[in-house]
Amino acid sequence: MENTQSYKSFLKSPHYITKHSTYFDAYDDLLSKYRGQKITFVEIGILSGGSLYMWRDFFGPQARIIGVDLNPAAKKWESEGFEIYIGSQSDPDFWKNFVEEVGPMDVVLDDGGHTYEQQITTVECLIDHITDGGKLIVEDTHTSYMNGFGPKRYSFIEYTKALIDAVNRRFGKFQSRAAENRIWSISVYESIVAFSVSRKASCMVSSPVRGIGTNDGAKDYRYGEPNTLSRHIEKLRNQFSTGLFFKCRKYFK
Ligand SMILES: C[S@@+](CC[C@H](N)C(=O)[O-])C[C@H]1O[C@@H](n2cnc3c(N)ncnc32)[C@H](O)[C@@H]1O
Repeated sequence: MENTQSYKSFLKSPHYITKHSTYFDAYDDLLSKYRGQKITFVEIGILSGGSLYMWRDFFGPQARIIGVDLNPAAKKWESEGFEIYIGSQSDPDFWKNFVEEVGPMDVVLDDGGHTYEQQITTVECLIDHITDGGKLIVEDTHTSYMNGFGPKRYSFIEYTKALIDAVNRRFGKFQSRAAENRIWSISVYESIVAFSVSRKASCMVSSPVRGIGTNDGAKDYRYGEPNTLSRHIEKLRNQFSTGLFFKCRKYFK
């Protein structure tokens, strides 16, 4: 944390700001490439304004820093050169007007109310307005495992898992209409989920590509010998109780 640029910018903020210690390494990992660039950055959740300054310091003077909050008092930060929009992140009409005024965004960071409805609505309303090469980042996703943020069956992490399945439905052989073509990739950190956008990459048709080198006809061992499948299943079963998989079986439901 100490050596990250985002933490250094955090320490310089002249106003109240609170983040979790693990976020700074993730911020640097996700956002360093935008530093010094002419980007449009949106943070949902302004509170006392501290993070607006952190991001201005982190991205540099060329970045357009936009804050969104439900609290109308946050409008005061406009006098400091930030663009401020007041409204609810769970209101699709608010986002409709917002994107008409703001235009395409390079990075959106959701640090708002952290309910599943708010988080999912934000992704669904903004993902199509993120530029190619941009990111939509949702933080405090630990609320998906906590009470008081919505029905857990429809938690943000359950939504993310469904999107992971939908990204993989792009595989050519599946030919599924439910494939995800807005999000190119999904990165999961502790308490943070980041969606990367690249229309070209996420709309590519997946098919095998072979190089031009000579084929020596090597036997592909991946399918193994006859009856291997039943032996694999047996081995897997044993490993779940004794072997390597014993260590990771706690991760399976
Ligand atoms: C965790 S604080 C933001 C902290 C700030 N980003 C920081 O790092 O210092 C959450 C903010 O989200 C705002 N908020 C809560 N529900 C909201 C909603 N539905 N739409 C927009 N903002 C909301 C709150 O008013 C509060 O200012």
